[in-house]
Amino acid sequence: MKIPSQIRCYLWIAYPHFRLHFSLLLAGWLRQRYAARMLEVRDNNSPRIHPGDCLAVLKTLPDESIDLLLTDPPYGSSYLSRSKSLPLVRIAGDGANEAPKLTKKMLKIAWLKMKWNTHGYVFCDRWSYEATKRAVIEACFTLKNTLIWHKNNRTRGDLKGNYGYEDEWILFFHKGRRWMFGKRDGNVLSFKKVPTQAMQHPTEKPVELLEYLIQKSTLPGEVVLDPFMGIGSVCVAAKNTDRRYIGIEIESVWYEVAKMRLG
Ligand SMILES: C[S@@+](CC[C@H](N)C(=O)[O-])C[C@H]1O[C@@H](n2cnc3c(N)ncnc32)[C@H](O)[C@@H]1O
Repeated sequence: MKIPSQIRCYLWIAYPHFRLHFSLLLAGWLRQRYAARMLEVRDNNSPRIHPGDCLAVLKTLPDESIDLLLTDPPYGSSYLSRSKSLPLVRIAGDGANEAPKLTKKMLKIAWLKMKWNTHGYVFCDRWSYEATKRAVIEACFTLKNTLIWHKNNRTRGDLKGNYGYEDEWILFFHKGRRWMFGKRDGNVLSFKKVPTQAMQHPTEKPVELLEYLIQKSTLPGEVVLDPFMGIGSVCVAAKNTDRRYIGIEIESVWYEVAKMRLG
């Protein structure tokens, strides 16, 4: 079959362009593969917990590199533990005005750092719930549920005139959509709190509860992020379940405890 001369002419002119276009595409693809591999290598070798302000540290992480956000931010209650076994210290960022802003800013950056089709969990209580929920939605996550962590103890407060609170809440959301692992569970989670005498941080969360959430939402080897890690309970839970982790803590005293716990 004879190719018409016009088409031959077109092919003659266009062929180098196609070749160039194809080479550029191939080079771009190879560069991306290489960059992803380098990030993986760097991720495996770099320290997995960081001292400092999470808003600054988060910005240094590669975009779309995180498989799960699991964090317990300051609630904005200016919390001071009454327990004699705990140091009498205020939690950084826990002022009523600063905590909601901090969580909101963190969520916006975290959204960029999370891969598509991943999950997020943020702890809160009934007083910080509305602001946290708004921040989750404004950061473009899809809010799925509010989990109730039912604890084995009650708060003190008005002993004669009020019921005791025995819960904390956890907002559960997606970036994109991801299926959960294991059987379908209800949204009330009963896990014992860390016994007060054993606590090293005033708002320490039980590793068993964190392990449960990590296993519902990730596979071994995936990366769990906690920008408000305190003494690193989320990182300990990730390590125990063979996940990688990135933890950030602004107070050096808590950061050092986390470092010791993680070995
Ligand atoms: C509610 S506590 C988390 C405790 C943690 N769940 C645990 O089990 O240890 C919140 C932590 O966030 C830290 N924090 C507050 N502002 C921060 C910031 N801008 N960047 C990083 N950490 C911050 C506080 O020092 C505190 O230790």
